[in-house]
Amino acid sequence: MPAATITAVATYLPDQVVSNTDLQRTLDTTDAWITSRTGIRERRRGAPGETTSTMGAHAVSRLLEKRGLAPADVDAIIVATITPDMVFPATACLIQDQVGLSNAWGFDLSAACSGFLYALTTGAQMISSGAHNRVVVVGADLMSAIIDQDDRTTAVLFGDGAGAILLEPADPGYGVIGFQHRVDGSGREDLYMRAGGSLRPASAETVAAGEHYLRQNGRAVFKFAVRRMAECVELVVQQHGYTPADLAMIIPHQANQRILDAATERLGIAPDRMASVLDRYGNTTDATLPLALADVLERGALHRGDLIVFVAVGAGLTSGALLMRWGSGNR
Ligand code: UT7
Repeated sequence: MPAATITAVATYLPDQVVSNTDLQRTLDTTDAWITSRTGIRERRRGAPGETTSTMGAHAVSRLLEKRGLAPADVDAIIVATITPDMVFPATACLIQDQVGLSNAWGFDLSAACSGFLYALTTGAQMISSGAHNRVVVVGADLMSAIIDQDDRTTAVLFGDGAGAILLEPADPGYGVIGFQHRVDGSGREDLYMRAGGSLRPASAETVAAGEHYLRQNGRAVFKFAVRRMAECVELVVQQHGYTPADLAMIIPHQANQRILDAATERLGIAPDRMASVLDRYGNTTDATLPLALADVLERGALHRGDLIVFVAVGAGLTSGALLMRWGSGNR
């Protein structure tokens, strides 16, 4: 059976740019604190009426245009998100309808900041099983919908955005090589949204308590992220007979530049091999991997045949890494 490979990448970002200086006006924070503690300088915020599905649909339309495909050519769509338009139906259904993917089935995947990575792995299995030829994987989050804009510990970190990739069968020697994923639910309260589910259905009381907002134990997640990010990369390369030095590029989840710097140091790789778009977009949760990948491609920093790793850590706690040989035989 063929491996799956990424044959197109597209993104969508809302127009509104929110700089650290903008946040300084309403929050007890400073540009100096945000920049030095996170590496983030600005992030995007969706306009009124913009949702996760509209952002995702823009990204998918651009993706099909780039690859020269019609909406009817897509077999399936997987949407990684923690900010679905509604609890149900799935945002995948909403994007399918907006773009007119008339032959596709699809579903949402919830794994927080590891969501896009897990969706990439899932979509790749759908290709390599022979079941499908074209699977679209979307990572999209309107984080401004679940962020308490008065909470300086989270409001400065997150941004809105979307990205999409197309998975197709690869020529021999290219595409996905393997993956290493884990979940550890004992860390479920380190990063979560308490209300709005079956445990605490939304009510006047939950809203008054601010339980419809994301809450995070930043230090605990930071420690887990630094350890797991390097560990996941090492595990997946070792499993296939490589070392971190063989990697042309690591496409990591974008939460904090200090996490990326610590992982870079632990892995002993050159800093320019750790992709980062944190300064421009902050943490867009499920959109970070496609946004970072698109940036690397735009800079011409990725070439056919390069060995790369996608790695992510997030709420759950979820984590993992995926190893692939970039490109395909003729692309
Ligand atoms: O993507 C999902 C996974 N999420 C992550 O990976 C996030 C991981 N965690 C982090 O990135 C970092 O822990 C944070 C950026 C969230 C926080 O950075 P930190 O260096 O761990 O800061 P801290 O939580 O230890 O707080 C240090 C101080 C505190 O003040 P005191 O208690 O020392 O007086 C905070 O109240 O910094 C204060 N602080 C701020 N000060 C100015 C927290 N947020 C801010 C802020 N502006 N925005």
